[in-house]
Amino acid sequence: MTTSLDLTGKNSLVTGAGRGIGRTIALELAAAGSAVALIARSTDELHAVAAEIRAAGGIAVVIPADLADPVQVSDTAKRAADELGPIDILINNAAVIWPAGPSTEIDPAQWAAAIGINLTAVAALSFALLPSMIERGWGRVINISSGVAARPEFMLSANAYATSKVALEAHTVNLAAEFAGSGVTINAYRPGGVDTAMQDWIRDQDPAEIGEDLHTRFVEQKATGVLISPAESVAPLMVRLASAQTGQVWDVSDQI
Ligand SMILES: NC(=O)c1ccc[n+]([C@@H]2O[C@H](COP(=O)([O-])OP(=O)(O)OC[C@H]3O[C@@H](n4cnc5c(N)ncnc54)[C@H](OP(=O)(O)O)[C@@H]3O)[C@@H](O)[C@H]2O)c1
Repeated sequence: MTTSLDLTGKNSLVTGAGRGIGRTIALELAAAGSAVALIARSTDELHAVAAEIRAAGGIAVVIPADLADPVQVSDTAKRAADELGPIDILINNAAVIWPAGPSTEIDPAQWAAAIGINLTAVAALSFALLPSMIERGWGRVINISSGVAARPEFMLSANAYATSKVALEAHTVNLAAEFAGSGVTINAYRPGGVDTAMQDWIRDQDPAEIGEDLHTRFVEQKATGVLISPAESVAPLMVRLASAQTGQVWDVSDQI
């Protein structure tokens, strides 16, 4: 897939850009002409994506960071702007689905760490990069959410993940309202069930530890072929990026 969107001269930052949905978003942004800062912990994966972008004539910089660490989050925002120039498009995609298991047996520190990656780092990156977007009168922030935000009771034994995605959508809608009319749009995107490492991770867990319900659902999703590819998930998002809508929670299955 290639997009008809022209993002020449725009700079993007994509978290979780080394694989899965984030990798595909980064490739699509680069194909549309944007220079892209690639963020995650696995440097080998980031360098592979950067090489792919450069081979196609695009611009990419690799910024390894652990988004669980607030200092690294803040350094990431600064480094991306130093290396590329002001960031116009922020894609908050990185997330973890752990810890999974009976909630009363979850280590609260692990629960908080997941919230830190899935929610606090998202807010911190937005807060760091929004002022420059607002000053220049144009920007796009996309927070990758999940269908679980619509039905938090649906994913038993993944309390931190469900909580983080519901809160992420509230954060998105609230922040968008605060900056309505600024030229900067802030939206959330539910990408659907996508065949990525996140899905593999759940299927690889011991059902006795993470809960039969969660494990069976993910095994069945793969077995019945309902999972979509990252390219299928990202295509509608790229169309949405041109829109001036803000404060929306878009879903991959929406008619556009
Ligand atoms: N796949 C699905 O079915 C599905 C469904 C609904 C929503 N989503 C959402 O879609 C987004 C992408 O998911 P995916 O399926 O593509 O997952 P994935 O394949 O597991 O990729 C997750 C990305 O996030 C990065 N990441 C995780 N922890 C990080 C940390 N502490 N610091 C920096 N980067 C970190 C990972 O890189 P490193 O591990 O190298 O750091 C990786 O690049 C997530 O927000 C997820 O919640 C996915």
